[in-house]
Parts: sequence; structure tokens; C-alpha cells
Amino acid sequence: MKNIISINQNINGFKKKTISVDGDKSLSIRFILLSSLSTGKCTAVNLLKSEDVISAIKCIKKLGIKIKLQDKNCEVGGKGLFGYKFSDNLILNAGNSGTTARLLCSLLVNSTKWIKITGDKSLQKRDMERIIKPLKLFGVKFKNKNKTLPIFIKGTELLNPIKFEENLGSAQCKSAVMIAAIKTKGQTKLKCLPSRDHTELMFKHVLDIPINIINKKNYDIIKINGLKEFKPFHYKIPGDISSASFFIVLALLSKKSSLIIKNVNINPSRTGIIKVLNLMGSKIQLLNKKYYKGEKISDIYVKSKKNLKGINLNPNLNSAAIDEFLLIFLVASICKGVSTFKNLGELNKKESKRLDWGIKILKMMGVRTQKIKNNGLKIWGQPNLKLKKNFVIKNYLKDHRIFMTSTIAALCLGGSWKIHDSDSFKTSFPRFSEILKSLGAKIK
Ligand code: S3P
Repeated sequence: MKNIISINQNINGFKKKTISVDGDKSLSIRFILLSSLSTGKCTAVNLLKSEDVISAIKCIKKLGIKIKLQDKNCEVGGKGLFGYKFSDNLILNAGNSGTTARLLCSLLVNSTKWIKITGDKSLQKRDMERIIKPLKLFGVKFKNKNKTLPIFIKGTELLNPIKFEENLGSAQCKSAVMIAAIKTKGQTKLKCLPSRDHTELMFKHVLDIPINIINKKNYDIIKINGLKEFKPFHYKIPGDISSASFFIVLALLSKKSSLIIKNVNINPSRTGIIKVLNLMGSKIQLLNKKYYKGEKISDIYVKSKKNLKGINLNPNLNSAAIDEFLLIFLVASICKGVSTFKNLGELNKKESKRLDWGIKILKMMGVRTQKIKNNGLKIWGQPNLKLKKNFVIKNYLKDHRIFMTSTIAALCLGGSWKIHDSDSFKTSFPRFSEILKSLGAKIK
């Protein structure tokens, strides 16, 4: 059948296997966008060649920047902070990529022609107000009917530095303000809830931008002095923890299995899933730790584990696990006892309504769930859960993480699954199927 995969069989145990996953998506997109602002030729190795990153590359090329891509090596000819050149009536399409759409707006704050920004069906449902609000304070103009794409943006050469409080815990919102700040004369001050800190680390350790960061207990203060041009740079992209997570859960839930995942970015603002799974009793280990340009990298060792236990998750860990909650719900469904999660509203603002989809899939599997106040969720785990029914997963807006989580559920818990839109994984993890098959998964 077209674009539907069938899985009718659990994966057999795999012992002492070693894999590597594709390059980190957040870092690959940041490399493309930020290198376009440098004063010369930047290079990257192990760039993620997924649809989201290709969308970012296409948009940046339309701004007059030369980009060469060969295998996973990439070369970007930066033109400085004021170097974009493009024709009138430009339309930039960010595809499925929220990071591209939102950070692109911050790259355009000093472009004085109207530019239309749009995206696919899923991206057109996502909130853009979170970046429109702060960028307007810098002096940028927007034309938009709703709070969503398509939008029109027109920058100005007379940007004002701003003071802004980011209270969603969104790295995209924080990064949009930070990038606009480097194009603005004077000091921009940002108070923000903690979220992934790749932009801060790149500013500090790669681009040498004047930035001051104070990490308080529950929030961060970031001050940036704008208008300093930065030199071309080289970047080695490590593996993506969000992609590694599918294989961590696969090994954990499969019988008699063990796996090493090489060279993964284990930035603490991204490794919530490992903390959560270890709290459930998984004993995942981080080996050969090292630093690269401010980012922490290691190999990850994981093996099958029975008797996992439910947890009451401190919402302080939500942000560091934000893209992995579907997998966390899946593991909670086989834990002994009840798991409780709180403040998950942001999950319904992703590529699909992921909180609702998580509940829907668990219900299909016969797992008891209950939505609690403030977008919280309780999951009653069943340690002996063995699925026998037929499952059909479709109409999920091609959300790559729903596709991949459903595939892992099918390979670990039994039942007969048909999952539609089977090319969804190409958004973030093009080698997903290939790696699964190398571990012995039977997918038709
Ligand atoms: C991302 C930030 C997160 C995350 C997304 C990538 C980034 O989104 O969910 O997949 O690269 O900055 P928010 O900033 O909306 O939390």
C-alpha cells in the first residue's frame, strides 16, 4: 500500500549493537541561519540532511546566500549582518519547520522590503505571535490575519534594543530575540524561562558575540550588545538526542537487548528524557563524555530493563524533554504504578497536538489515562502490557515524532499496526528506518 507501513511482529532482542544517529536538528538549522550572517565561508560536517534543514537551506539561498551541500558536508558563504540580497515580493516557505519560520523572522529584522513567510499545513496552525510580539518592539512591522502563517514581515534599519520577558520556556522565542539583538545597536536584555541553550553556546563559544548570561534558579538573564560582525567558523554537528531517544526506548523495552549510541549531544537542556527514564529505573549510562564548543557530547549505553516504575515528574524537567514526551508516555504505559505529568500545554502547540495524540494512542492501546488540571496527565502503567489488536495511525498532520513513536510501540509491544504517512520521519531523522532494519526490525 502507498505510504503506509505495516508492523506485525516485535523486534527480536539485539545484543551489544552500536549505532550512530543523524546530526542534531537544532544545531544544523542554527548553523545554516547563523553562518549566513558571518563575514565569509563557514563549513559544517555531519549536517542533518532532513526536510526541516533543507527548508532552512532553501530559505537562506533565496536571500542571496550561496550554500553547497555534499553528503553531510556543508559550506555557507556568509555575507555579514547586512548582506542579504533578494528581489521584490519574496516568498519564503519554511515547510514543516517551526524553528526555521520563527528564527527566519529574526534574520529579516533589518530587511526593508515586505517578505511573505509561509509553511506547510501543520506549520500554518502554529503560533507566530510569540516572536511577532518581541520583534515588533525592535521596530519590525508585520501584516498577519491570525497569529499564524502566512505572515508578511518588513524590517527597519533603525532597530531599537529591547527589554523582554520570555515566559513560555521556548528556545525558538528566546533565540529569535537574541538574533534580532545582534543586528541592533545597543544592549538588548532578555529574561527567560530555561529552555535549550544552543544559541547562547554558539554566540559565546563559536561566534564570539558580546553576551552576558546569568543563570538564576528559575530563569535566565541574557544581555547582548549588538552590531559586532563575526568571523566565519567551522562546526562539527553531534548526533541528535531526540533521534537517539527512539532507540533508547526501543532497547529499553525490547527483551534481552543492549545498545551503544555513539557521539550524541547530551547538553543538559536536552537530556530530560534520560533523567526521566533513569528516575523510572532504566540505568542508562553516558560514556566517554567530552566538550565541543560549549556542547557536551557522549556515547549512550542502554539495555533492556524490567520492573520500571511510574513517577510524579517535576515540571522543571519538562523543557529538557519537550520533544520526547510521546516516548515518555509510552514508557509510562508499561511502568508499575501511576505516572503524573504537569504543565504540558506547549505539547499541543507542536507539529500536531501531541498531548492529545499521546492520550489517543495510549487509549487505543487500552492504557488508562486521565487529563488533569493545567494540561497535566496521569497514566496508569501495565507492566505486562501485550497488545493483540489492530492499530491504525493516520491523520496526524505527518508529525514525525508521532510516526516514529508509533513505530517503536509496534516493535516492542505487539499488535498489528498500520501507520500512514510513512515518509514523515524524513522531517527530522532520514536514517530512522535504515537503522531500525539494521537492528533486525521487520517493517513492510
Ligand atoms: C527547538 C525548540 C523547541 C523544540 C523544537 C526545536 C529549537 O521548541 O520543541 O523541536 O531548535 O530551538 P520551542 O522553542 O517552541 O520550545
